Amino acid sequence: MARPHTEFIQTQVLPWKTLGDGSSRPGADAKALSYDPDSKAVTAIIKYPIGWSLPENHYLDSDEEFYVLDGELWVGSVAYVKGDYAYLPAGMPRPSMNSPKGASVMTFHEGTHRTVVGDAPVGLYEPARLIAKIESTKMSWGHPSDPVVAATANGAGRKLLREDPKTGDRTWLLQFGPDDPAKMTHGRTETHPVVEEVFLLDGEISMPMGTLKPGAYFWRPPHIEHGPVGTRKGLFGLFRCKGGPLTTAWSDTESPIDWNPAHRPILPPHLAPLANATYDPDLQY
Ligand SMILES: [Fe+2]
Repeated sequence: MARPHTEFIQTQVLPWKTLGDGSSRPGADAKALSYDPDSKAVTAIIKYPIGWSLPENHYLDSDEEFYVLDGELWVGSVAYVKGDYAYLPAGMPRPSMNSPKGASVMTFHEGTHRTVVGDAPVGLYEPARLIAKIESTKMSWGHPSDPVVAATANGAGRKLLREDPKTGDRTWLLQFGPDDPAKMTHGRTETHPVVEEVFLLDGEISMPMGTLKPGAYFWRPPHIEHGPVGTRKGLFGLFRCKGGPLTTAWSDTESPIDWNPAHRPILPPHLAPLANATYDPDLQY
């Protein structure tokens, strides 16, 4: 069983859970955004309280990818602050982890994510796969990979954070400038052969199942036609594709953009009761 189609949930409405002993980050709070019960892969926001520490030498038994939303997180002697990104492969030695000031971190675990004290078995850690740290705020914006997006989206820019040389899986930041609904009345729908996962950091996205506000999250399985989309305020988001390189099949014809869509998200049963939960829009997640 793969992760269920979740499109979309405002992460503000999801409950925090304090992680216990035996978890990957005991004592931190976390909210799971999507979860694969078979592989145990999970996307979660982890909130490290001020002074949080995992002082022993340890490793994780699966890959961890993260993007810091705020605060400061240390892995060994490397400090990560807002906008910093890392891909830490399974088995990477971690002398300690600390968060003296607290931190909130968008975290992607690609498997069972067990923290194991001590040294990893020889051969588990593949240093060639390590991305120790990218300070995304210091990167300049490049062009989106899709030529249609690059040509049609207003002020589109991409910061590529990772592209897996074997699988083609990718992680990137994307921004668009605002559209003018009076001029942009129609758009094309699109389909990808891979999972598209998005966390909206800022701005707004209007699409047929509702309007995504900052803190919105979706996990869309492959081959699901979606769109057309527009953004009245522009957008800034963290994007991932899973299962191979992102390619896009665009519809031949355009259909009307719904700039005031009804809220009708697609949610798995455990999230359905939260579909219309109210939240404080000043909260980021
Ligand atoms: Fe898409």
